[in-house]
Amino acid sequence: MNANELRRKYIDFFKSKGHAQIQGKSLLPDNDPTVLFTTAGMHPLVPYLLGEEHPAGKRLVNFQKCIRTGDIDAVGDFSHLTFFEMLGNWSLGDYFKDGAIRMSYEFLTSPEWLGIPHESLGVTVFEGESSTSIPPDDESAEVWRKLGFSEDKISYRSRADNWWGPAGVTGPCGPDSEMFIDMGKEPCGPDCAPGCDCGKWLEIWNDVFMQFNKDADGKYIPLTNKCVDTGMGVERTVTILTGKKSVYDTEIFAPIIAAIEKAVNYSYGTDEEKDRSVRIIADHARSSTFILGDPKGVSPSNVGAGYVLRRLIRRAVRHARKLGSEGRFLAEIAAVVVDEFAGPYPELRENIAFIMDELNKEEERFLETLQKGEKEFEKLLPNLLKDPKKIMSGRLAFKLYDTYGFPIELTEELAKESGLTVNRAEFDEAFKKHQELSRAGGDQVFKGGLVDNSEITTKYHTATHLLQKALQQVLGQHIAQKGSNITAERMRFDFSHPAPMSKDEIEQVEAIVNEQIRRDLPVSMKVMSLDDAKTAGAMALFGEKYESQVKVYTIGDEALGIFSREVCGGPHVEHTGLIGKFKIQKEQSSSQGVRRIRAVIA
Ligand code: ALA
Repeated sequence: MNANELRRKYIDFFKSKGHAQIQGKSLLPDNDPTVLFTTAGMHPLVPYLLGEEHPAGKRLVNFQKCIRTGDIDAVGDFSHLTFFEMLGNWSLGDYFKDGAIRMSYEFLTSPEWLGIPHESLGVTVFEGESSTSIPPDDESAEVWRKLGFSEDKISYRSRADNWWGPAGVTGPCGPDSEMFIDMGKEPCGPDCAPGCDCGKWLEIWNDVFMQFNKDADGKYIPLTNKCVDTGMGVERTVTILTGKKSVYDTEIFAPIIAAIEKAVNYSYGTDEEKDRSVRIIADHARSSTFILGDPKGVSPSNVGAGYVLRRLIRRAVRHARKLGSEGRFLAEIAAVVVDEFAGPYPELRENIAFIMDELNKEEERFLETLQKGEKEFEKLLPNLLKDPKKIMSGRLAFKLYDTYGFPIELTEELAKESGLTVNRAEFDEAFKKHQELSRAGGDQVFKGGLVDNSEITTKYHTATHLLQKALQQVLGQHIAQKGSNITAERMRFDFSHPAPMSKDEIEQVEAIVNEQIRRDLPVSMKVMSLDDAKTAGAMALFGEKYESQVKVYTIGDEALGIFSREVCGGPHVEHTGLIGKFKIQKEQSSSQGVRRIRAVIA
């Protein structure tokens, strides 16, 4: 069983059960200020889980590339990854617990599909909660019983294990039922049951029963349409099914590790500490390649997704240096990642030049940083050596980190070479303080959150359509959307344009948008094939992948004249008069050839 086979089987199985295969989406979510990356297969489907109609129907299946950076520091062990693929199937108000569990069971056990012996499986279900009055999930347990599971194979567990819905934010959520494989080890104690993390039971699949929408007050509002969201991690499942000790020992990583061995001239499996570095490089090189190779690829920077990318690249470089590599090497590894994954993810091959170029540039920049840091350290050295205790203060080490981006491990290394030690506790304290400060704004985005479908953000969605068209009318047909980001307070809209807008142009655009709002144009939606949408003159977002059936939103009609037509998931207001007054607050550069508008409606 390799990743390609698992992906294919999963999709084929659910297709045979009436599911439509939908495209996986970009790793960089649109219109969602709460997350930097797509963190689960369900993420792009949130509006549909909340009741929007999906053009492909009520039963969906796909594979989705995901990034989770919450555990970035744990990468290097045998299982953590920052990039992974998730297989998922969805019911949008169609089947629920019974249907989902029966299909999961058939896929896992049928010899035609995964053929896992019934005896090797165990499951968990939600135990209920008095504080929210949510009852135990006996319904799911009953389905498992009917499928032949004895009580010792069905474990009732708390919210920490059996509730799904990204942490701390609003959105669809509910109890889940997880499936585990018994690795054949002795139980760790009398309470060892499916879900126990002693290593006996390994999770391979999660069926989430989306029953509620958690609102901003933390209340659980039952959904009218109950939905199912399931997720099976490709890497983890392949590891378990092939009986490997680690995901890094699977076919998924073998070619990447071989490339690293060659690039740094080290043989994996020789030294424990060095092996850890190889795993970190393998994971980070793969994630960086996927982030750069995304249709909406970002470049390394000091903010947002670009910052995560920078961190991944630099950490990989640092570990390669530990292994004795001096020059650039990442592009070589990236080439292997592209070869391995361009089948299911053709965008990697399409963007290969960008991937290579950005990796090379960032490696150069980092190597420069390192040189600068080393120089600074040498300047400090004479004074440091005067200290009778030969201790370098953590404060000073932090300054090197903060000002030059010089990693603490390297400061420690240089210090050691000169017979000094760094006060690490003091450094850690300064570092922690710094993290707390920068976290105030950044914490949420690492956790994974959901798109907000409130009334106000819906208005902003429709306003972006008016804005895009108005920009085309004023600046020309070359205007294409490069990204957008909406919160309840404002919208940001990025578009291709080579020069700053003049005051006059900004005023003209505002006037056009406000005129369409004043005309109170109707907004209508039609599902059609992507080809028909293009023939009908609909704008589509550059770089995004679409299903074969798409939703097309039209503002205006035959009688009043059609103002704009765009392929879009929605939601939108019913008529433009609901939007309110539109005002551009700022127009600035976003990146080379891309401008950014910040606007509000009142
Ligand atoms: N969304 C669920 C998960 O990520 C299926 O586990």
